[in-house]
Amino acid sequence: MNKENIYYVCSECGGDFLKWSGKCPVCGAWNTMKEFKDSKAKHRPSNVNSEIQDVHDLNQIKIENFGRQSTKIEEFDRVMGGGIIPGSVILLGGDPGIGKSTLILQISEKIKDVLYISGEESKEQIKYRAKRIGIESEKIRVLSETNIENIISHVTKLGQGDLKLIVIDSIQTIYDPSYPSTPGSIIQVKECALKLQQLAKSMHISIILIGHVTKEGSVAGPRTLEHLVDVVLYLEGDGYHETRILRGIKNRFGATNEIGVFEMWEKGFREVKNPSKIFLEERLKNVPGSVVTAAMEGSRALLVEIQALTSLTVFGYPRRTSSGFDLNRLQLLIAVLQKRANINLNNQDVYLNVIGGFKLREPAVDLAVCLAMVSAYKNLQIGTNVCAFGEVGLSGEIRNVNYFEKRTNEAKRLGFTEIIKAKTLNEAIKKVITNG
Ligand code: TYD
Ligand code: MG
Repeated sequence: MNKENIYYVCSECGGDFLKWSGKCPVCGAWNTMKEFKDSKAKHRPSNVNSEIQDVHDLNQIKIENFGRQSTKIEEFDRVMGGGIIPGSVILLGGDPGIGKSTLILQISEKIKDVLYISGEESKEQIKYRAKRIGIESEKIRVLSETNIENIISHVTKLGQGDLKLIVIDSIQTIYDPSYPSTPGSIIQVKECALKLQQLAKSMHISIILIGHVTKEGSVAGPRTLEHLVDVVLYLEGDGYHETRILRGIKNRFGATNEIGVFEMWEKGFREVKNPSKIFLEERLKNVPGSVVTAAMEGSRALLVEIQALTSLTVFGYPRRTSSGFDLNRLQLLIAVLQKRANINLNNQDVYLNVIGGFKLREPAVDLAVCLAMVSAYKNLQIGTNVCAFGEVGLSGEIRNVNYFEKRTNEAKRLGFTEIIKAKTLNEAIKKVITNG
């Protein structure tokens, strides 16, 4: 036997090896090696382009009009940078049950000429969802298929003229029969996504790939595809509230970090045009430990409430817990408060919470975090018309933040007349406490 023709492929990660082993040296999975005897060429990655391409002068290249297609769903368009670009591949990730299929069905209704391919649900289930959200469009075609080759032949048959958008729900259910591994494994997900990407580019049709975020690694999550696609979106939210945030993580045709805010109702998604108002709706007035800040999410300012609670440490080391704000940054701010503003939280447990499920990463919310802690510790409320933002430095100084005007305007729009302006943390605390 010609030894050169025998090799082993891991069905999990797709790594190939000359020797068999019980555990894959690359991904660590057990008992996943399968023997192959045929030529390796068959398993060459499908993204290898063998055609020789021409070299162009940069100044000779003409930019085509991207021809963005607006969905007329403003919150979605904003995240996309104005609309869907024909021929682009969009990845939509999110936890199971968060509403990905629902959102994309609503987008499909607006785009029209859509082929909705579901490997998860039967056509009746899709119809049921469409009925529930009141979609009757005859321009959405449905296909229940999981084999990538059949999908490609369907799409080629339907042709360019008739199709503007293809939806794959979900990429983890699609498989390529020329690979030995099961659907959902890293190699399958990647290979199928590559083939779909080529299909999108060659036929100039946009494709939305839906991917479930998975907790355990047995099914490849959307993260493995992020570098392959043009746009990466995540739909976030918890199962307990109806608010959903669509976040742009990557966009080759627009700004990243934009967010769109939606609410999930019994008849699908509804846009939230005024999110700051919603996030402040349940705020209790005149309670110590609550401060409103203006945080930037992409190009948009959002008002968010920050709550702090302090309580005497009963035993041992003081506890610091934070939800929605970096714990290390919280520790740092506690140290600054102690050293520069004489607020000693050494014997206090500190709990910090950002309302609305936001994760605030920018230093511009430092001041609000500090004020919330001081207000909780001193048991003095902060005026309900106060909005605070500013980066706190190690010397207790308050530094300027970007988008000052946008933040101020959003605060004023919602009735926050007092924007804290101070040079130092001490000064800010004094202002707030007289206000309280
Ligand atoms: P779905 O879009 O199927 O989520 P995903 O594709 O991300 O898994 O929606 C899941 C949940 O949403 C389901 O529990 C029912 C609920 N839902 C609504 O609340 N309103 C609606 O209009 C629809 C269609 C679903
Ligand atoms: Mg779904």
